[in-house]
Amino acid sequence: MKILVIGSGGREHGLCWKLSKSSKVEKLYCAPGNGGTAEVAENVGISSNDIDGLLSFALEEKIDLTIVGPEEPLVLGIVDRFNENGLRIFGANKKAAQLEGSKEFSKEFMGRHDIPTARYESFDKFDDAIEGIKEFSYPLVIKADGLCLGKGVFICDSEEEAIDVLQDILNKKVFGSEGNTVVIEEFLDGIEASLLCFVSGNKIVPMESAKDYKKIFENDEGLNTGGVGCYSPSELFTEEFKKRLEIDVLEKIRLGLKKDGLNFTGILFIGLMIVDGMPKVLEFNVRFGDPETEVLMPRLESDLVELIEKTLDKTIEEKDLVWNKRPCVTVLVTSKGYPGDYEKGYPITGIDKLDKSIILFHNGTKYDGEKLVTNGGRVMSITSLGNNMEDARKNIYNNIDNINFNGMYYRKDIGII
Ligand code: AMP
Ligand code: GLY
Repeated sequence: MKILVIGSGGREHGLCWKLSKSSKVEKLYCAPGNGGTAEVAENVGISSNDIDGLLSFALEEKIDLTIVGPEEPLVLGIVDRFNENGLRIFGANKKAAQLEGSKEFSKEFMGRHDIPTARYESFDKFDDAIEGIKEFSYPLVIKADGLCLGKGVFICDSEEEAIDVLQDILNKKVFGSEGNTVVIEEFLDGIEASLLCFVSGNKIVPMESAKDYKKIFENDEGLNTGGVGCYSPSELFTEEFKKRLEIDVLEKIRLGLKKDGLNFTGILFIGLMIVDGMPKVLEFNVRFGDPETEVLMPRLESDLVELIEKTLDKTIEEKDLVWNKRPCVTVLVTSKGYPGDYEKGYPITGIDKLDKSIILFHNGTKYDGEKLVTNGGRVMSITSLGNNMEDARKNIYNNIDNINFNGMYYRKDIGII
């Protein structure tokens, strides 16, 4: 098969790495890819939002299967366009992608189908929102409705702060039209976990759980990022919890998707806050997570191409997913300044010194001629399986300082449970 993966992050390197191990793959392309995907696939210089360019390429090259990494092309309707042109593509269609593309849409979906989530109200007028915040205590959470590259969520400790955020989003339009509406939510105090699922029509088949570290500094301090560390599985996913999740969340999502005609084939990523052992849904994404993919792919023993084909053919079952029992940890090395402004283009050295047991995924790198250089805020994911979490974690931290680039930073507390 000829396969095209769309995107350029660690998630896409994780997917390409796993796909490249499948005997079903004759040729693997990644558009636009990065320095890491270049090692296992052929990078194609088409941006992930250039739907016309990607469609022409897939038609010309007779691509058998396209796998979409990031959310933007899904929200733009890439799946519908490929399907209209008779191409096989894995990802949510435009209608279902609203589950990620609009926080108001996803909260309404949760409300309609009695899916446990934080209490909320949505507003599109500043004056109404100012009245609305009186119904919440502090801290409260304000979210811009649309896609804001993970920067549209604010936890406010005071009314003053909340008013400033509402000013920025609704009046100053700092997120443009993505902030035409805001969702105001009660703050949930708990532990987060990510659950990625294959969605095949009305079937939802969960993968193993993962725990993402969102804050840039140790002890979960500082600004929110796309995720700077991750491990799988989450220790909170006990048998008892999984049963609760099935009844309280997964079954309700299944019924909700069916009732609302949100039939799709792809990934549903459920962002959970676990409060006193009870699951609450923070958000939905309609794609693989990053860095969740970097810890799930090394643990997945089944052939990913087969799983995706079965999902598309509506024959996937839970038993098709076979997992390595060993846990996996990843630590991201980031550019100085991330998640704020940062510089790119610094040479990266020391990859050749890493132990063979380390799996290295590239998030933001590229080749400048022969030289590998930084090309993003998140640069690389240093990943390891282990007999236990501590073992995997130690292996990473014993190796990580072999890697070097100007301003390299990483958290030292990833994987401590
Ligand atoms: P979201 O994009 O909705 O997942 O929000 C990004 C991050 O903000 C989440 O991963 C949480 O860390 C935090 N967050 C979002 N909503 C809430 C909430 N209601 N209570 C507490 N933290 C939240
Ligand atoms: N790691 C969170 C995300 O992919 O959105």
